[in-house]
Amino acid sequence: MTRRPQTILITGVTRRVGADLAGHLLDAGHRVIGSYRRETDALRDLVDRGLVALPLDLLDRDRIEPFARTVAEHTDRLDLIVHNASIWHRDEDCAADPGLATAMYTVHVTAPIELTEALHRALPARRRDDGQADRQVVFLTDAHIDEGEPNHIHYIASKAAIEGSIRSLALRYAPHTRVNAIAPGLLMFHPEDDERYRRERLARRLLPFEPGPGVVAQTVDYLMACPLINQAVIRLDTGRRWEN
Ligand SMILES: NC(=O)c1ccc[n+]([C@@H]2O[C@H](COP(=O)([O-])OP(=O)(O)OC[C@H]3O[C@@H](n4cnc5c(N)ncnc54)[C@H](OP(=O)(O)O)[C@@H]3O)[C@@H](O)[C@H]2O)c1
Repeated sequence: MTRRPQTILITGVTRRVGADLAGHLLDAGHRVIGSYRRETDALRDLVDRGLVALPLDLLDRDRIEPFARTVAEHTDRLDLIVHNASIWHRDEDCAADPGLATAMYTVHVTAPIELTEALHRALPARRRDDGQADRQVVFLTDAHIDEGEPNHIHYIASKAAIEGSIRSLALRYAPHTRVNAIAPGLLMFHPEDDERYRRERLARRLLPFEPGPGVVAQTVDYLMACPLINQAVIRLDTGRRWEN
């Protein structure tokens, strides 16, 4: 655990991983700013616990620059940005509506890169005397980039695009900012997933359990605590059975 309270921005804190991570970091005493589109019970609970909630639709790219300036009105420093917001459309839905594929590239690739840049303009990270980074950027990608996912090619391609950009972003922002990715495999099922689907998904893992969202918070704690990690992709997938 890092020594002093950090100021952290997380995109997409209305549910699941984003909400869990925001709650965990608030409980640890950090200052958390979270973006949302829809107001949910989880969001209202986080606001009651101290979250600064700011509206942002990443598909509305004209709003990114003003959003970064609004963040700067709430804080004079930003230690960590977690790009968590995501959409997950099947390829058959993208075939019926090609705008869905474009939307995934916007939410996973273009908008997070633009938001990172806009935040550096509105709230520049500082060059530190001790050589350590002043800020960290973490992207949530997906372990299935390695495994393959035949029904979500656009989703996986968009996540692979941002994962493939972290080396370049870390080069651009050194030495004041480091850039890493967390690539989860299955973290949690959706309520509508049936028993057979759950059994089959778990059988592909070396350790067949549903971990829940807390493993992302544990990994963010680790990335915050260890100043040496940069340009890294941390896979959270228990290992996999590779089918031949
Ligand atoms: N859950 C898993 O098993 C799993 C596995 C692999 C990778 N991941 C990655 O981990 C991250 C979190 O997963 P999750 O399951 O918690 O995702 P999720 O349930 O789909 O939640 C996504 C969040 O993104 C926000 N969002 C969606 N479209 C947006 C937009 N246009 N602008 C701004 N925010 C938008 C949503 O906000 P609204 O509710 O306001 O729309 C929501 O808060 C994602 O990046 C995902 O790809 C998760």
